Parts: sequence; C-alpha cells; structure tokens
Amino acid sequence: MLDTFSNAELKHINVQPRSGTAADTVVTRDDYADAVTEITSWDGYAKSPLHALQNLSNAMELGAIFYKDEGTRFGLGSFKALGGSYAGLRVIQRELSKKLGKEISARDVRKRIYADDVASITLVSATDGNHGKSLSWGAQRFGAPCHIYIHRDVSEPRAQAMRDFGATVIRVDGDYDASVDAARNDANENGWFVVSDTSWEGYTQPPVDVMAGYGVMTKEIFEQMDTAPTHVFIQCGCGGLAAGVAASFRQLWGEAAPQIVIVEPELAPCLFETAKAGKKTDVVVQEETLMAGLSVGEPSGIAWQILSEEASDYVTIPETLIAPAMRLLARPIGNDPKVVAGESAIAGLAALMAGAQHTSLRDALRLTNQSRVLLIGSEGATDPAIYEALVNG
Ligand SMILES: Cc1ncc(COP(=O)(O)O)c(C=O)c1O
Repeated sequence: MLDTFSNAELKHINVQPRSGTAADTVVTRDDYADAVTEITSWDGYAKSPLHALQNLSNAMELGAIFYKDEGTRFGLGSFKALGGSYAGLRVIQRELSKKLGKEISARDVRKRIYADDVASITLVSATDGNHGKSLSWGAQRFGAPCHIYIHRDVSEPRAQAMRDFGATVIRVDGDYDASVDAARNDANENGWFVVSDTSWEGYTQPPVDVMAGYGVMTKEIFEQMDTAPTHVFIQCGCGGLAAGVAASFRQLWGEAAPQIVIVEPELAPCLFETAKAGKKTDVVVQEETLMAGLSVGEPSGIAWQILSEEASDYVTIPETLIAPAMRLLARPIGNDPKVVAGESAIAGLAALMAGAQHTSLRDALRLTNQSRVLLIGSEGATDPAIYEALVNG
C-alpha cells in the first residue's frame, strides 16, 4: 500500500517567500478574535479532534503526524462550516446596520431581533459543495433567503444537502467558473448579496470574514499542540483555507510558525502556477478532479497575498493517490485512530506520504525524523456514496 505513494509522480517547487506584513494585515488579529468569540457561542459548537498518527509517522520515519479532523464540524462534515455561515452573518449585520441607520450586533442577528428585515436580505454563492452548505445552514439559522449556484459536476447528494437547509439550488450547465458568473450576474440584477469564499478585484470583505472563521480551527490547534508543528501540508482550492491557516499560525506562533506546504490536484494547480510565475495566474481546469473542493482554476487574490509571504513549497498530486490515502485513514496502521476522510481532505496526507518516501523530495521538503507534521483533514464523508466507492469499492 505504501508503495503506491513512493512510486507516484509529484511536481514540487520551492520558493523564497516574500517579506511583508500580509499575515497581520489581510485578516487581522481582531478579525480572528471576533470570529472566534462569535462562532464558539453558537449552539452545537464543539472542538474538533486532533489525532496523532504515531504508527504512520514511524513508518514514514518522521517525528509525528497530527491530523485535525474537521469531519465533525457542526454536523456539516467540513471546516467550511466555519466560513460561509459566519461571512453570511456579517453580510446580514452590515446590511441591517445600513438599512436601519444604527449599529446592529451579531447577537441581534443571531437572536432574530430583526427577522422581518433579514427576510429581505438574500445571500448568494457559487459552490462545489461545502461552502454552499455552510452558507445555506447559516442563512437558515439567521433567517435569510439563500440561492446557491452549482456546476454540472456537483453531485446530487451535495445539492440536496443544501436544499435540506432551505436553499434554492440552481444548477448551471458549465464548470465552476460558469457558476460563479451566474451567481454574480443574478445577484447584480436582483440586489442580492454574494457571499464568496474567494476574492477578486474590488470584492474582499466576505472572503476575509470566511478566513477569519477558519481561525476557530487554528486557535483550537494552537491549544491542542504543546509546540508548533514543523510543517503543515495543506490542500488548496482557491487558497482561502491555506491562507487563513498560515496567517493565523504566524500570528499565534510568530517565528516558530511552521513551514507551509501547499498541495493541489495536478488537474487544478492554480497556486502552483501562481507561485511559479510569482504573480496570480489562472489555469483552465480541463478535467474535474475527484477532489471536488479543490477543483478551482482561479486563486483568491487575498489568499495569494498571504501565501506569497508565508508558503515555501507547492506540490501537485495525481488522482491515483486519492483512494489509497482515504483507505490509509480508514484502515490505519496498528492502533492509530480510524478516520473518515472525504476525497478533498486527503491531499495533504497523500503529498506527505509520497514526499517522505522519495529521497530527493524528502530533502527538498526538509522532512527528517524530527519533523512534526500537521495535516488539515478538511472534510469527512460529505458524499457518503463517493466515500463508499473509493474506500470499499
Ligand atoms: C474539503 C475541502 N478541503 C479544502 C478545500 C479548499 O479550500 P480553499 O478553496 O479555501 O482553498 C475545500 C474547498 O471547497 C474543501 O471543500
């Protein structure tokens, strides 16, 4: 089983991160602190577990491997529960404050004090699943209508999960970018509010709030670990997750913050190409990766601002590693804990498994028997049929 990883072809580049202050200024300490205070007050909040995979780490001749398991987050199955819902709340709060001419608190929104006014604030987003589920869930909690745009390849169970949270789901005959365009156009025409997890020219506030929400997860990790990890292998779609994690770790751990290794599918390497070019670069996704949450051709501008200063390594992985990595967590070595990890959760693990076993890549990634590597298990079985087919099929 481990041979699958050692025989795999990965691309890797190492870059010198630029110097700058993005880790402190794009999402500020106050942004993270506000999000943590708000989200940890929500019904159903519980810390997600951090597992130690010691037998796997021994087999890889590393010091330790830690896996933050976001599959349990708010019963939604992914870390995205922390982002879209919170950014939606902040949009409602800002729009209400404008409309009513006074500062409205998040608590007032949460307690549905202005329910009639909130019912006229429609939240909109494109999604390949998890972000839209988070926004639908939040919109339903706070009483706002929600329209979610999905592309032709989003699985029907994922669409249904959003309908179950009261969202109107619109399937667009095109790819992810087509669904983003449709969401933006319909929002402009109808006076709706886009709550996106990715940023573009002139649109940054909701994506900043989304990343601030991920600060709940990083604060938990900070509390769960005695000392900083040496490395974080972290998967990217638009880069919001990786940037939110990297900036927060820099704020929490300062100079001791870990080496950030960005991992993408070879079918959607937008941050790899961006890092190679030294400037934001889009790629055309010709074929959808199985890792649906990572199938993004356009990096988030504000995420790149942070990653250009915080990430030193960019890796792409082939599709052949997805099922083996999921199985490795489902059927672990010895008494390592069993983990249910969805197909978009395991890219970091797959890259680590391959990287630790290829001698030259191991050196390039500065992996040693002292390395303490953190993986972000970003989702559980968010589509149970796909999970079943990949793990037991
Ligand atoms: C499970 C999972 N992991 C990772 C990511 C990547 O996050 P980002 O697009 O912020 O880079 C996503 C995005 O949808 C996801 O759903």
